[in-house]
Amino acid sequence: MRRDRLKWNRKYRREAFADQPAAIVRTYAHLAPMGRALDVACGNGRNACYLADRGFAVDAVDIAFEGLQRFACRPTGIQRICADLDDFVIPPGRYSLIVNTRFLDRRLFPALQMGLCPGGVLIFESYRAAPAGAPSGPHRPEHLLKPDELRRAFSRLRIVVYREQPSLHADAPAMKASLVAIRPAN
Ligand SMILES: C[S@@+](CC[C@H](N)C(=O)[O-])C[C@H]1O[C@@H](n2cnc3c(N)ncnc32)[C@H](O)[C@@H]1O
Repeated sequence: MRRDRLKWNRKYRREAFADQPAAIVRTYAHLAPMGRALDVACGNGRNACYLADRGFAVDAVDIAFEGLQRFACRPTGIQRICADLDDFVIPPGRYSLIVNTRFLDRRLFPALQMGLCPGGVLIFESYRAAPAGAPSGPHRPEHLLKPDELRRAFSRLRIVVYREQPSLHADAPAMKASLVAIRPAN
């Protein structure tokens, strides 16, 4: 969406973003068979860089050119794709690992699931609506997961981790929902 592209390009020009991979990616990426990984709304590629370093061939997609230009590493083994995920086609069965952190587009849920090869792993972590008074992430309801939403959305996968809890990272204190799930072999 054009408005998102402008907003995020401006943010990447003006702000510094974390360049360390999300803890959930560091902790669970090893569950995925080696192969091709997709980093959805990759931003500055902090997760893509980690995965490429571990031997995955990574497709890193984001709408913001400025984030892709400020990658957290030399993008060796990473295909940087500047695209709106509204239009980007995730080929079915292509990825052994799909990572989606700090981004929520519910329309992508079916494609994320179908994009995994058998045995492939989905790592998904994003903001959840917070109780009154707790640190919150985004404010718009469409950007906030509802209680148990991720677990229900990906119930056809084998869920190995699911939690909803505050994340106290200084750069993004907020309630988050986190899911790690594996596409069954058939
Ligand atoms: C909060 S950042 C998260 C970046 C990265 N996933 C991370 O965890 O560091 C959200 C990202 O979503 C991207 N984004 C927003 N709308 C998008 C869209 N329609 N298509 C592709 N990327 C989009 C933004 O450009 C931004 O980089």
